[in-house]
Amino acid sequence: MILITGANGHLGSQTIDFLLTNNSDADVAGLVRSAEKGAELKEKGVKIRIGDYTDYPSIEKAVQGIDTLLLISSSTLKGRTDQHNNVIQAAKEAGINHIFYTSIVEADKELSLLSRDHAATEKLIKNSGISYTIYRNAFYMEFLPLFLGDALETGHWAFPSDGNAINLALRLEMAEVLANGLANAEEHKNSIYEITSAQAYSLEEIADMLSEASGKEISYSDISVSEFEQALTEAGLPEEQIAISVMTATTFVNGALDFTYDDMQKLLGRKPTGLETYISEFANQ
Ligand SMILES: NC(=O)c1ccc[n+]([C@@H]2O[C@H](COP(=O)([O-])OP(=O)(O)OC[C@H]3O[C@@H](n4cnc5c(N)ncnc54)[C@H](OP(=O)(O)O)[C@@H]3O)[C@@H](O)[C@H]2O)c1
Repeated sequence: MILITGANGHLGSQTIDFLLTNNSDADVAGLVRSAEKGAELKEKGVKIRIGDYTDYPSIEKAVQGIDTLLLISSSTLKGRTDQHNNVIQAAKEAGINHIFYTSIVEADKELSLLSRDHAATEKLIKNSGISYTIYRNAFYMEFLPLFLGDALETGHWAFPSDGNAINLALRLEMAEVLANGLANAEEHKNSIYEITSAQAYSLEEIADMLSEASGKEISYSDISVSEFEQALTEAGLPEEQIAISVMTATTFVNGALDFTYDDMQKLLGRKPTGLETYISEFANQ
């Protein structure tokens, strides 16, 4: 049986949908934090396991009888490596054969503040001796509207990048890649894939694409991270939102997303959706 964690989240539920659509006989279980969060999945025939990464006994119980595990990285950033370690140790104790994990692109270069937990988790997985497949995901293309804020309305996009390009890939297609991998685990044994779309773009280029697609001039300013943080603070945004935005900005500025590989194309069996396509759909909604 395949257990997918974060099963009620975006990536987890989309992966489950692809798995069930492409393999009607797939034996799929989903880890969620409460029965209510698993209700929709249960209706689709997914077996529900309840557990929280921070609660080892709950995870120990949830992984019983599982052969293949997709550990979707926690969205709760505090103590994230420890949370993942709980899952990996429980998987080892339960004799799970294969762990799939969602990491960040070029995790071992530790260019983003987000990379450290992922790099540490990758090491824990390798040290566990369990077969693994690691998908080092670029940032989600679906998050572009969040990065843009009100740029489409104001015609001005101020965001730090220090001239670096960013590679964004569709989360929906990442889910498809994960489902393909889970259905053919042996083929992907002890592999690490860099999951990016076919091209990285500078934020200047993205602003140009938005202008072209929307028919409205969008100018771009490459401001510093401290200027960005100050502007968000002055706008009265909640502290947590500012922290996440600053982390994203630092990731861009450090060039942590300025990478392009063809792994996603190979694993999808077609060219991943490019940013131009996404932007033309998004700007004309
Ligand atoms: N590449 C990117 O651009 C990007 C962007 C954002 C996040 N991520 C990472 O990718 C992961 C998947 O993305 P997503 O869009 O599917 O995120 P999401 O929709 O927020 O889903 C996260 C899932 O993780 C579960 N979770 C969080 N903390 C947990 C814990 N302590 N124990 C058990 N489950 C826990 C959540 O459960 P609840 O519903 O109970 O909270 C939810 O099911 C995220 O968790 C994050 O690590 C990547």
